[in-house]
Amino acid sequence: MSMDRNVRASAPGKVNIALRVGAPRSDGFHPLDTVFEALDVRDDVEARLAGELSMSISGLGEDLPIDATNLVIRGAQLLKDRYGWRSALDCAPEELGAQLTVTKRIPVAGGMAGGSADAAATLVALNELWLLGLSDEELHECATELGSDVPFALLGGVARGTGRGEELQTLATNQTHGWVMLTNSRGLSTPAVFNEFDRLDLGEATVPDTASVIDVLSGTATGIEHRTLLGTVLANDLEQPARSLRPDVATIIDTIRAHIGAGALDAHAVILSGSGPTIAVLAEPTHLDVLAARLGKLFPELTPVVAIGPARGTYLVN
Ligand code: C5P
Repeated sequence: MSMDRNVRASAPGKVNIALRVGAPRSDGFHPLDTVFEALDVRDDVEARLAGELSMSISGLGEDLPIDATNLVIRGAQLLKDRYGWRSALDCAPEELGAQLTVTKRIPVAGGMAGGSADAAATLVALNELWLLGLSDEELHECATELGSDVPFALLGGVARGTGRGEELQTLATNQTHGWVMLTNSRGLSTPAVFNEFDRLDLGEATVPDTASVIDVLSGTATGIEHRTLLGTVLANDLEQPARSLRPDVATIIDTIRAHIGAGALDAHAVILSGSGPTIAVLAEPTHLDVLAARLGKLFPELTPVVAIGPARGTYLVN
């Protein structure tokens, strides 16, 4: 086979406009009712044919593990083991390999599903590089095995997620949303936040729903009116356990809420992003740079990242 084939895929980060969580299921996962929005902060995975599977990371996250624990390698191995036999390349399935180069822009361990984006981009890139011919359904199934947020990274746009987040239903919207994502140099582990949710006994058997957010997304209000309304219904059930583990994050959220409430910040609302510690500030898409500079001054320990949603799901760049 020619060794100079090379394919690049791009996958989005996300914010949860609403994240409602129930009591843990018997498999330990928590039932969710969530509304995901894909953001135009994206990671790329470039895949090149090689004798082995290997990966490297540039941009953010250069100190992340690049061994078999990384979702990129796990995704590649899953495709190779399960679907390698379908490759139209002229080689035996066990000989399929790739050198994977991740360019990371999505903050690490931040609640923006950067690792899930990398896994989604890996699946799409290798499906093409290895000429596997997987359908969207087959890719979705592999994505679900890799993690709860990976299917949404494939799909993008705005979608309601139920089950453990992998059962997706696209929500059509013509609206755009501006976000300043305040990223933290110290990460927060997703399992730790869910464990704290359980320790605080916050989950009910019935998961609270996301109806109010869905109503606003499908409502008639547009532009600033729509975003103002959306700001009144943002919800994240993981905020309380994340606050409990990270009082520093709680203080920042409270300060921003107070500023917004007093009309001292040009933003609609603030919410924890996913399991945190990234904090998401909803604002007008045209005001993001000014707001980011302001928030960067108020909280010099944080790095603001400007984002607009919804954004496309995972796609091939070349
Ligand atoms: O699915 P994923 O591997 O991304 O999840 C990471 C961890 O987050 C899980 O091991 C679990 O502890 C927690 N989790 C959960 N319920 C979900 C999603 C994630 O408890 N719906």
